[in-house]
Amino acid sequence: MRRTVKIKLTELTQIIIFIVIIQINMILIVYAQNDPSQNNMKLMDEFIENLMSRMTIEEKLGQLNQFPGQRTEDGIRVSKEHVEYIKKGYVGSFLSIAGAVYLGELQRFAVEESRLGIPLIIGYDVIHGFRTIFPVSIAEACSWDPEAVERSARIAATEAAAAGIHWTFAPMVDIARDPRWGRIVEGSGEDPYLGSIMAAARVRGFQGEDLSKPNTLLACAKHFVAYGGAEGGRDYNTVDVSERTLHEIYLPPFHAAVNAGVGTVMGGFNEINGIPMHANRYLLTEILRGKWDFNGLVISDYNAIAEMLVHGIGGTREEVGLLALKAGVDMDMFSGIYLNNIKGFVKNGKLSQKIIDKAVQRVLRAKYQLGLFEDPYEYNNPQRERDILLHPVHLEFAREMACKSIVLLKNENNILPLRKNTGKIAVIGPLADDKDAPLGSWSALGDPNDVKTIMAGIKGAVLPETKIFHTKGCDVQGEDSSGFEYAIKIAKQSDIIILVLGESRFMSGEGASRSTLDLPGLQNELAKIIINTGKPVILILVNGRPLSVSWLVEKAHAVLETWFLGIQMGPATADVLFGDYNPSGKLVVSFPRTVGQIPIYYNHKNTGRPPTEQRNTSKYLELPSSPLFPFGYGLSYTAFEYNNLNIVHDKIGANDTLFISVELENIGKRTGCEVVQLYIQDPCASVTRPVKELRGFQRVTLKAGEKTKVYFQLTMNDLAFYNLNMKRVVEPGSFKVFVGTNSEDVLVTQFEYVGDLLILNENR
Ligand code: NOJ
Repeated sequence: MRRTVKIKLTELTQIIIFIVIIQINMILIVYAQNDPSQNNMKLMDEFIENLMSRMTIEEKLGQLNQFPGQRTEDGIRVSKEHVEYIKKGYVGSFLSIAGAVYLGELQRFAVEESRLGIPLIIGYDVIHGFRTIFPVSIAEACSWDPEAVERSARIAATEAAAAGIHWTFAPMVDIARDPRWGRIVEGSGEDPYLGSIMAAARVRGFQGEDLSKPNTLLACAKHFVAYGGAEGGRDYNTVDVSERTLHEIYLPPFHAAVNAGVGTVMGGFNEINGIPMHANRYLLTEILRGKWDFNGLVISDYNAIAEMLVHGIGGTREEVGLLALKAGVDMDMFSGIYLNNIKGFVKNGKLSQKIIDKAVQRVLRAKYQLGLFEDPYEYNNPQRERDILLHPVHLEFAREMACKSIVLLKNENNILPLRKNTGKIAVIGPLADDKDAPLGSWSALGDPNDVKTIMAGIKGAVLPETKIFHTKGCDVQGEDSSGFEYAIKIAKQSDIIILVLGESRFMSGEGASRSTLDLPGLQNELAKIIINTGKPVILILVNGRPLSVSWLVEKAHAVLETWFLGIQMGPATADVLFGDYNPSGKLVVSFPRTVGQIPIYYNHKNTGRPPTEQRNTSKYLELPSSPLFPFGYGLSYTAFEYNNLNIVHDKIGANDTLFISVELENIGKRTGCEVVQLYIQDPCASVTRPVKELRGFQRVTLKAGEKTKVYFQLTMNDLAFYNLNMKRVVEPGSFKVFVGTNSEDVLVTQFEYVGDLLILNENR
């Protein structure tokens, strides 16, 4: 009897202590989240420390795992085994599951049925829209409009957050210099300066101003790092890259994302110089956390920790897990190694408890910053989910973003824009009425039924008297030419032909490298017979990478690069075709003439024998050395003239800012927007420098006949480069400045830096 009373008293004491701890925690959370200062961080860490002091090693390791859902008849769901994991505290996160109600149920298992009630964090690939699908990232970057790109990410975050998602695996900030690499479609192209601006814009868009608000997503800069440098453009392939190229080309967009406050970073599948990224302590810890002060969470890519065994290091699941944790990978996506293979090392002291604790702290901080400890269900409001997905405002902006992403590559005799009462138009090609391709390679909850095709856009734009014919002619891939005859027939009957050719959505993206950049299937043959009709041809390219279409570009009268423009692809393309929108997009990647020119990027070195007519110079025998279209290229329905590139002082010192101006005039007949681009070159330095490097751009809208001065400023940061000792320096001497409409067509001037050798901080 006395024993029972004693037990009851002990239980009562425990309950009281538990309630007191919860009360203290709640006070700490509420106080911390109302106070945006350093104090806030301190209170967060106190809260987390307190929580961690009550966690077992199993629960700690549990927080470091992310598992995927599984496809079922009811959608993507968590397996029974994983539900048990949640209740035991063996999982910190899930990926690729959506839905406010279902995710709320999972959250309830974590919060109400696990010992410590730690909420789950849900990740998803929300790359270019969630249900309202926007243009693929490379297309959006062609807008050169960071505010618009930020808004697109903001809308994607609002929709995904309403569907119970807390975390997106975006932005993808890999620089891509090889169009064979299918993942070029997911990034912002070949240039680190533009890539950095787009990276920061997307981070701001996804994360919003206050992560604890329920309409924000934690962003994730991926794939750290140089994943785009895969040899031969073959996805997942080896990367062998110099320290200089790493620092000048591949790292900057990640650094920009970190400076913009990105909450998480994902490792790349690649190795660099013999070390798989998930074991790369130098990059993940010394550079990312050490030099750049990143204090967020690092997640592995899908099964990438286990795949280190296949790379050929570690030898056992235990060892690769150890390598990853020691390198700085906090969360394990999919492999389960942190959950199942690490505990022994903590017990035998081979892995210090501190490393585990740091990783757990980072996971818990992410959850805390999202506000999940205060209200674990704040992302699980089905009414909000119903109201917000495909909201009319989102659709309207998706159309605007798509218009901004289109690049006009050719417009012979101003054949575009077309009249809305053009007599007969033949719309030919396998992608003209395709509802799938516009979604791009990552489409989250995108639904082909939401897609307005190019055909639908054209039909919606023309006046009733215009007659539209349509046929595919052939498929994107395959050998069936039986549709050619009808294609020729409607082509001959028409006044103008709109030819819509390119790639299907999964010909780019992950695991979709190509050895050729030609139009696939019989599309070239289709194009030839259509061109042979002698009718005017407008070529619309629908694709995830630059294609080598030199001959076709030469023959077509106009060419539009539309990429994959999302669910408003049709209306936006029609807006441009019929002149309701004057195109202003500019390429963010050079278009090679043929696949053999790769790698071809504008910011290359000069070599000792730059290409000339002479034989022994750096060029191919059969080709001009220039690309088909250079970086920064794009036309408008109006024309712009550049004059009087001027530098206020032609000599500057270390504390000076360089002011540059140029006159820009709209000499055409309609209002247009020009992306004015500024490049620099350090023509003689202690290490060789690229022939041009982008250092500024501005979108300027001018009415017909209007003229303005466009101003730029350059600081020492813009002039710096890594010297032999990998210090960021500015060396005295002259610099060239180029301003113009693309990376080739520029005005040039120069100035001199007359100060001392300057060594700049790594944290620009
Ligand atoms: C693998 C991809 O490389 C990565 O970009 C993506 O975020 C993950 N899978 C999760 O889907």
